[in-house]
Amino acid sequence: MRVLSGIQPTGRFHWGNYFGAIRQYIDLQHEDEAYYFIANLHALTTVRDRQELEQLSWDAALDLLALGLDPNHAILFVQSDVPEVSELCWLLMTMTPMGLLERCHAYKEKKEKGLTADSGLFTYPVLMAADILAYDADIVPVGEDQGQHIEVCRDIAQKFNHHRGEVFVLPKAKILDQSAKVPGTDGEKMSKSYNNTIELFEEPKQLKKKIMRIQTDSRPMDEPKEPQTDHLFQLYSLFASVDDRDEMADLYRRGGFGYGEVKKSLAAAAEAYFGPARERRAELQAQPEQVRQILGDGAAMARKKASSVLKRAQEAMGLCPGG
Ligand code: ADP
Ligand code: TRP
Repeated sequence: MRVLSGIQPTGRFHWGNYFGAIRQYIDLQHEDEAYYFIANLHALTTVRDRQELEQLSWDAALDLLALGLDPNHAILFVQSDVPEVSELCWLLMTMTPMGLLERCHAYKEKKEKGLTADSGLFTYPVLMAADILAYDADIVPVGEDQGQHIEVCRDIAQKFNHHRGEVFVLPKAKILDQSAKVPGTDGEKMSKSYNNTIELFEEPKQLKKKIMRIQTDSRPMDEPKEPQTDHLFQLYSLFASVDDRDEMADLYRRGGFGYGEVKKSLAAAAEAYFGPARERRAELQAQPEQVRQILGDGAAMARKKASSVLKRAQEAMGLCPGG
């Protein structure tokens, strides 16, 4: 089984990204083979500043490695380092009906809001299909919002195989467990679009500040409170051991505490949780050559696979590579 997924470098990773996606990708790296890439070509549809995109892509690589993505288990690379995928994307576009893309949510939502979309956003799902098909991926772990794009990928692959012969492996989506949406500092879903995120590698001082500013209700201290519906408790539960979580739940039910105490416990638990990764990140940051080497080796392995699949597609379409 080959697992593959991409993650867009459109912002620094936050707790929601980690618990809803990154941690699960890392757990899956022990499948037979795993390919993970930083989807900087897709990010071009939103990040328009050159330096910002470069920096976010680099930060994403450092973050993923620091969090435990192991280059001995998974192939890690940057999407634009494999030009074969963009070439395959064109071949797939010639077989993708407009109607299929018109139904895709990112484009549809933008259009419905009366905003102008560029053709990059319109054809975004085809590039994503090329990303997946280029590596003969079997399983694609993604958030629920990306399920539609995997369906589009399957439609394109099926159509291609039907008209041109069996060239592509049909991938399956593995929808990540995001049942417990990570709440943001305002209690809504944590998201960079809502400006309520806490980043994974926030400076410790800044981290404390943000945690202290998490919104809470104004019920009196002695009033008992229900932990399960409280977003501060939900955040604490992400990091605490089962015993610590149960103890905190008891404290909520008894009442007689201030939210400030819970926030202090949350700050300590989050720092203990991400502390070792923070240290690894600092080590990696001090050895950029080593990180470049990992990404270079990853890209070389990815290109080897992608060029053989591209060749299959070119031959099936009468492009006869190499004359
Ligand atoms: P954002 O909402 O901050 O723009 P993205 O859309 O880039 O985040 O999300 C990347 C991945 O992280 C997706 O799989 C997404 O579903 C997951 N994710 C983002 N925020 C949360 C959250 N609050 N809880 C759980 N998963 C999340
Ligand atoms: N579009 C995906 C997202 O926003 C990222 C992505 C790009 C991807 N190419 C992919 C995910 C291929 C899985 C497979 O999350």
